[in-house]
Formats: sequence, structure tokens, C-alpha cells
Amino acid sequence: MYSEKVMDHFRNPRNMGRMEDADGIGKVGNPVCGDVMWIYIKVKDNRIVDVSFETFGCAAAIATSSMATELVKGKTIEEALEITNKAVATALDGLPPIKLHCSLLAEEGIKAAIEDYLAKKKAREGEKT
Ligand code: FES
Repeated sequence: MYSEKVMDHFRNPRNMGRMEDADGIGKVGNPVCGDVMWIYIKVKDNRIVDVSFETFGCAAAIATSSMATELVKGKTIEEALEITNKAVATALDGLPPIKLHCSLLAEEGIKAAIEDYLAKKKAREGEKT
């Protein structure tokens, strides 16, 4: 029921693992199934220079996290915020309709990591003034 791309990203996830020196960390959960995902980002000059994820979830959640990290790598914060779960699913040649909610985790995880980064940046700037 999964496309070859989904199976490829599930079997060989890109950018998997914890990042110890992340600038932003997003943790999101899927209330439907209880699966959890962490997204870590490293930001330089407003650009996401590195990104990784840890996902305790189904094959679709792992494949979409993997693809989402590939899509945001090298993007500016603004560009990364525009990436939707639909874009992630399309990049994977589609997901079965009952698995579309899984791809929401990836979109929300990226957004949560960026929000965390922006909040930390604001706090740091506040300290300087
Ligand atoms: Fe939980 Fe897919 S079933 S994220």
C-alpha cells in the first residue's frame, strides 16, 4: 500500500538521530495513535544548515519525517515554514488516505522546532539589551 519512495525512506531514513547541540527542538505527538516525534534544527544566518529527527511511530511517520528533513535542509526559516504535509506526501509519491494524518506530525514537528528556535533567539536578544 506504500509507494516505493515511502518504503525507501522507511527502510533507510535520512537524518535520523538526536542532535546534541540543536538550536531548536520540536516535540509533537499524534493524539490518534500516540506516536511521538522530535525534530532538531541547527540554524545559521536564518538558514537551516542541519536537521535531524527521532520518531517513535509507524512507517508513514518515519518516512515523512525523513522526507521532511530532506526538504527543509538548506532552506531559510521562512521557506521551511511554508512546507506542508501535502508537499511532504507528494514528494513521497503519495500516501494512502488513512495514513495522511501521520504526515501532519512531520509538518508540525518542523514548525515546533522553528518556534523553539525563534523563542530562544528572542530570549537571547533580550538578554543582550
Ligand atoms: Fe501514528 Fe502513523 S499511525 S503516526
